[in-house]
Amino acid sequence: MEAVIGLFVLMLGVSHSVETYCDGTQNGAQCYGPLGGTVVLQLMNNASEIHKYQWLKKNTVILEGGMNISLSNRLEKRSSFTPSSGTFRINKLSRTDAGEYRLITFDSNGTQLENRALRLTIQAPVSSVLLDSECLSQGEMKVSCSSQGADSPQYSWTLDNHALTDSELLSGNTETNSITLKQHVSGKLVCSVKNKVSRVLKEVQISTCGVGTYCDGRQNGAQCYGPMGGTVVLQLMTKASARHRYQWLNKTALIMYVRRNIILSNRLEKRSSFTPSSGTFRINKLSRTDAGEYRLITFDSDGTHLENRALQLTIQAPVSSVLLVPECLSQGEMKVSCSSQGADSPQYSWTLDNHALTDSELLSANTETNSITLKQHVSGKLVCSVKNKVSRVLKEVQISTCGFIFINCTTHTHTVMLISCTLTDSQTAH
Ligand SMILES: *[C@@H]1O[C@H](CO)[C@@H](O)[C@H](O)[C@H]1NC(C)=O
Ligand SMILES: *[C@@H]1O[C@H](CO)[C@@H](O)[C@H](O)[C@H]1NC(C)=O
Ligand SMILES: *[C@@H]1O[C@H](CO)[C@@H](O)[C@H](O)[C@H]1NC(C)=O
Ligand SMILES: *[C@@H]1O[C@H](CO)[C@@H](O)[C@H](O)[C@H]1NC(C)=O
Ligand SMILES: *[C@@H]1O[C@H](CO)[C@@H](O)[C@H](O)[C@H]1NC(C)=O
Repeated sequence: MEAVIGLFVLMLGVSHSVETYCDGTQNGAQCYGPLGGTVVLQLMNNASEIHKYQWLKKNTVILEGGMNISLSNRLEKRSSFTPSSGTFRINKLSRTDAGEYRLITFDSNGTQLENRALRLTIQAPVSSVLLDSECLSQGEMKVSCSSQGADSPQYSWTLDNHALTDSELLSGNTETNSITLKQHVSGKLVCSVKNKVSRVLKEVQISTCGVGTYCDGRQNGAQCYGPMGGTVVLQLMTKASARHRYQWLNKTALIMYVRRNIILSNRLEKRSSFTPSSGTFRINKLSRTDAGEYRLITFDSDGTHLENRALQLTIQAPVSSVLLVPECLSQGEMKVSCSSQGADSPQYSWTLDNHALTDSELLSANTETNSITLKQHVSGKLVCSVKNKVSRVLKEVQISTCGFIFINCTTHTHTVMLISCTLTDSQTAH
């Protein structure tokens, strides 16, 4: 299946010269510096008041100074120490800068006052991030995020600015660099790659994977459905026989003619393909004008008429966006409406916490209309499913009991609507 993925990819927050800061005033501080970049280490609060201090790596004194001692710095060429702020800034970090450092301070009698350790780890920052997506056979979408060269990259994902939910994620947890999204998930997907020294976000606008349907048309009178704009795979025969000739026609024209497994003509050539070995005819970019009755007429090698089978193809606009709107009624009941745009013949069904709604929860409407009223005090994860013959979209909302007004609601109306609210007394809400 082709990915209908689009198309604009943004790279956010790429920093070319990376700089990190680390507070090293506590013994045992863990600091991270970017390879090739700069680290600012807070070694002490104010060096001007310390009689004598030494900063060492193993037995090598890197930095030495004090009240009456002139400052010496082994890394002079690529670093600077600011006594009044106690910060040591090291540029052009390399892997050899990593290791354990110690700060030792002395009083005027030469007595050691402090001896503090700091571990510096050098990490290659996240530079380029690659986001790749691929449609799987059932319309799921596999998305991989990869970064080059970064040390210990950690991955996380958001869709339309919220964490991925179980209703969107098919496999892969959100901490791996490759996830599989369920069918019909769309929106702004962001992969964040970070390590201790950097973070890069990469964004891609995803559309559902080319919606497709399959129909077994091997029986005379088969009813097939294809998604508008999508693909239908019609099983015309089990396997084309090289000894036969086939004609595939609609009411007014010969669409395709196959002889000895060679396609001699195909009017829909640009957007269709016939695979003799599997007997399937695949039509892409379906439009309403593709609807109608088709016939397959088969002849054997000496022209004897073998079969004449009809197939009815119906084109439906798939379910795209679904809107789920809860509303509190005066007695604390909750009315929830589910609506979809553009889909042909949508059918609605509901579940609450993964089970069908029961009489003790449902006040009115049945589960096949697109609006229901729930009794008072019903709460849980309510899911509206909208489907037709070519597609299905689920939308989920976490409902709390009514009798409160929902304010400060955060709604993410894309695939999932979450409501996280502050509650106060009142009768109505929406
Ligand atoms: C250190 O400096 C202080 C003033 O900053 C001065 O009074 C003292 O004599 C100096 N001590 C030594 C050993 O140089
Ligand atoms: C550091 O100490 C010196 C001497 O006590 C003082 O003059 C200076 O203002 C201090 N610096 C800061 C940043 O506190
Ligand atoms: C240094 O040693 C002398 C004598 O033992 C003592 O009186 C003084 O307080 C010490 N100074 C510091 C800063 O500890
Ligand atoms: C038959 O197929 C042709 C070619 O795709 C098309 O132009 C024509 O409108 C179709 N006729 C009917 C009745 O569907
Ligand atoms: C709504 O949220 C904003 C920002 O989080 C907060 O400042 C405000 O107090 C909230 N309003 C109420 C009524 O809770």
